[in-house]
Amino acid sequence: MKNWIGFPHREGKHSRQAHVDLPEGTYEREMGKEGFFGPASHLYHKNIPTGWTSFEGPLQPHAFDTNKLSDFGSSPWNAEALITNAHMKFRIWKTSEKMDHLVRNADGDDLLFIHHGAGELFCDFGHLNYEAGDYIVIPRGAMWRIEPAEKTEMVLVEATNSSYQLPDKGMVGPHAIFDPAILDVPAIDAAFEAQQGQDEWRVVVKARNQFSTITYPFNPLDAAGWKGDLTVVRVNVRDIRPLMSHRYHLPPSAHTTFVAGRFVVCTFAPRPIESDPGALKVPFYHNNDDYDEIIFYHRGDFFSRDNIEQGMVTFHPFGFTHGPHPKAFKAGEKAARKETDEYAMMIDTRDPVEMTESAYSVENKDYVNSWKGSN
Ligand SMILES: [Fe+2]
Repeated sequence: MKNWIGFPHREGKHSRQAHVDLPEGTYEREMGKEGFFGPASHLYHKNIPTGWTSFEGPLQPHAFDTNKLSDFGSSPWNAEALITNAHMKFRIWKTSEKMDHLVRNADGDDLLFIHHGAGELFCDFGHLNYEAGDYIVIPRGAMWRIEPAEKTEMVLVEATNSSYQLPDKGMVGPHAIFDPAILDVPAIDAAFEAQQGQDEWRVVVKARNQFSTITYPFNPLDAAGWKGDLTVVRVNVRDIRPLMSHRYHLPPSAHTTFVAGRFVVCTFAPRPIESDPGALKVPFYHNNDDYDEIIFYHRGDFFSRDNIEQGMVTFHPFGFTHGPHPKAFKAGEKAARKETDEYAMMIDTRDPVEMTESAYSVENKDYVNSWKGSN
C-alpha cells in the first residue's frame, strides 16, 4: 500500500511523533494496516484500551501451555498441530528417540525451532548438530532425520506451498540483525559417511497432507558432495543482534527473521529498554487487524506478559486490541528495567488461522481476563 492516498492528519491532543512524549494522562493505540508497514493512526485514549470488564463471543485471545503436551514418538509426522491455515502449520514435537526412518515434506518448507534439547540432524546435504535456540530451515523435498542426544522439544512451522526467505533489511543493509555469513549448513563429514550403508531405509513422504513410504535397500542419505544455493540452514537465536533505538520503540516487524509467502517469523531477543525519557518503553497498544499473531515463549522473563511461562503460546486474532499487561505497563512506565532478557518467536499470518482440538486441550481459558482491571 505504498500509494495510499492519505497523509498524516492531526486532531485534538496528540504527540508529535508515534510512541514518544504522549499527552499527559493518555494511552496510545496504533491502528494500522499491513502489519506495521501500512497506513496507521495513533489514537490518544483517556482510558487503557484493554481495560474491559467483560469480553464475550467467539473473538478471544488464547494462551496454550505446550508443557502439558506429552511425547509424540520418533516421527515429526506425529507432531501435534496446534494452529494452522492453508499457508502455515504450527506444530509441537517432543521426542527422545533416534529416528529409524527418514522424512520428506513435499508440501512446503519446514522451519524447526529447537526449544529444548540437543542432537544431530542428518539430511540430503550432510550432518549438522542442533541445540536449544536453533532455527533450522529445511527446504521442501529434503530428506532428513534426527538423533537426539537429549530429549528434544521443538516447534515445527510449515510454510505450506511456499519457501522461507530472509527479509529485505532495507536501509540498515544485509548484515544487520544477523549477517547471512553466519548461516551454518550441513557438512559431508565423517559422521555423515559413517551412517551410510546397505541397510534398508524407509522414507516417509508427506505430500498433499497424505503419507507414502518409499523403501530403499540402502541409506539414501549417500551424497558424496553437493553444490548450489538450496540447502538446510541453521542460525541460533544467540547470534541474532536485534535492531533497537534508545529513543523509539521499534515495531515487531523490525525483528523479522524469516519471511514466507503469507506469514513472517520474528524473533524477540534480549535488548536494552529505551532510555530516552519521552520514549515509550513497552509495546504500544495496537490493532494489527490485517494479521493474526502467534507468539511462542522460549526463554527468559516475558516482561510484557503476566503469567506466561517458557513453552507457552499466545494467539492474538485480528480484531483484538492488545498491548502490555497491566503490571508490565506500570513497570515499563517507571523504567524499572534496563533491558529485556526474553527470547520469543512470533508468527504473524496474513490469513486467519484455526486452532486444533490439541490446542484447546492445553488452553488457559482465563487468559482473556489477564488484562482485566487495567484501569
Ligand atoms: Fe500484537
